[in-house]
Amino acid sequence: MILHDRIAEILPDWRNRVNRLVTEHRDFKVCDVTISQIYQGIRGVQIQVADISYVDPYEGIRLRGYTIPEVLEKLPRLPGCEFPMAGGLYFLLMADALPTFEEAMEVENEWKKHMEIPRHVVNMIHSMPRETHPMTLFSQAIMALQVDSIFARQYLDGLTKTDYWKPTLDDSIRLTAKLPSLAAIIYNWKYRNGEINAPNPDLDWSGNFAYMIENPNNHEYEELCRLFFLLHSDHEGANVSAHTAHLVNSALSDIYLTSAAAMNGLAGPLHGLANQECLRWLLKVYNSFESFPSKDELADFARRELKSGRVIPGYGHAVLRTTDPRFTAQFEFARKYLPDDELYQLVCRIYEVLPDILKETGKIKNPYPNVDAINGTLQYHYGVREFDFYTVLFGVSRILGITAHAVWARALNKPIERPKSLTTAMLEERVAGKPDTIEVAM
Ligand SMILES: CC(C)(COP(=O)(O)OP(=O)(O)OC[C@H]1O[C@@H](n2cnc3c(N)ncnc32)[C@H](O)[C@@H]1OP(=O)(O)O)[C@@H](O)C(=O)NCCC(=O)NCCS
Repeated sequence: MILHDRIAEILPDWRNRVNRLVTEHRDFKVCDVTISQIYQGIRGVQIQVADISYVDPYEGIRLRGYTIPEVLEKLPRLPGCEFPMAGGLYFLLMADALPTFEEAMEVENEWKKHMEIPRHVVNMIHSMPRETHPMTLFSQAIMALQVDSIFARQYLDGLTKTDYWKPTLDDSIRLTAKLPSLAAIIYNWKYRNGEINAPNPDLDWSGNFAYMIENPNNHEYEELCRLFFLLHSDHEGANVSAHTAHLVNSALSDIYLTSAAAMNGLAGPLHGLANQECLRWLLKVYNSFESFPSKDELADFARRELKSGRVIPGYGHAVLRTTDPRFTAQFEFARKYLPDDELYQLVCRIYEVLPDILKETGKIKNPYPNVDAINGTLQYHYGVREFDFYTVLFGVSRILGITAHAVWARALNKPIERPKSLTTAMLEERVAGKPDTIEVAM
């Protein structure tokens, strides 16, 4: 398969680069860690090397070195489609090169072979209480697929360490192939009549999700899915879900165990669940005014929110210091496809007003919108109005990045992750200038 060939071709060079760093510069210091960083979520500590993507504070995410506008421009697309195929994106993430149309199609075709969801997984979803959160169902379903892990089977048979990445890639292709169908099954069972269209072989991976949930405005929603799944595919290596995946994968857990663990992190309100909060807030603003609010009315509303100690969802970012280019890409989509949508118009007006209001506080490092400030608005417009499902859509996309990181961690033989914890007493002794009374192993 094309991804195997391409990774096998570039792997010796990557292994040499890493070996050179580790052997020739093993004691080179990358950063220091302060007590405040330890107590504040290891914020900013450079603990990870992740070559799939990098978040530049001023340019936003770069996927294998390419900015979002570059990725949107350069990746191949199907005839008649505005946005690229996810198959091309997966090639870029995995193989570290822009694919040709044929290479992108090869990934898409490989996915088509493995799209079907085993009956036991469908039955498991159907046996759950209907009120189960869709992220719980999504994570459970990924776990239920684990029985077919090729890596787990070959590992038991004594797989050679340098080949660990190969069945990890096989598993990744098989798992990612199923994600649109899995999400559609969960969506239709939880919110519709439970029936589902079989995947359409003429459509790509992203378009098929729109087709399977039978979105009434299928063509435009297919395009939105292409854009959405591309934009959310990765956000470097140390956010909660990516770091969770790395840690679990480092124990040689297979891709199903790794991805389900990542999804459990993504399901947290401070991570992937934030997008539903943004739409809720937007609707609250919308419903607080009898007619479309003026800039002054919005400014007063925002100041009141801030004064009462509330955060404004969709604005600010831990790393970015500019408008998120993923916001901009979806903003442009909305400008073209839904210019008359009142919620979109509200997003525009808030964007005009809010950064200056946030700057007035003097403490917010990034007063500009992040991707969540518009995500939900687009889904809402196309009738996907079940807020708790939005994180599943995010997860479908993010597993593309997570599996690419996992394959490369195996390819570069990254070892099990095992940092060290200290006790409060140890820190107290150190700040008092006393030596550690208990030996700290390194
Ligand atoms: C994303 C976020 C968690 C980043 O947090 P952060 O890295 O601590 O951000 P900052 O360093 O700029 O925060 C400095 C202060 O500004 C506040 N702040 C940041 N963004 C804010 C916002 N959108 N509304 C109100 N206050 C905000 C922080 O709460 C913090 O206040 P404190 O010093 O009283 O604790 C934060 O901006 C936020 O809560 N945004 C809204 C939620 C959201 O959009 N989440 C999705 C993120 S992709």
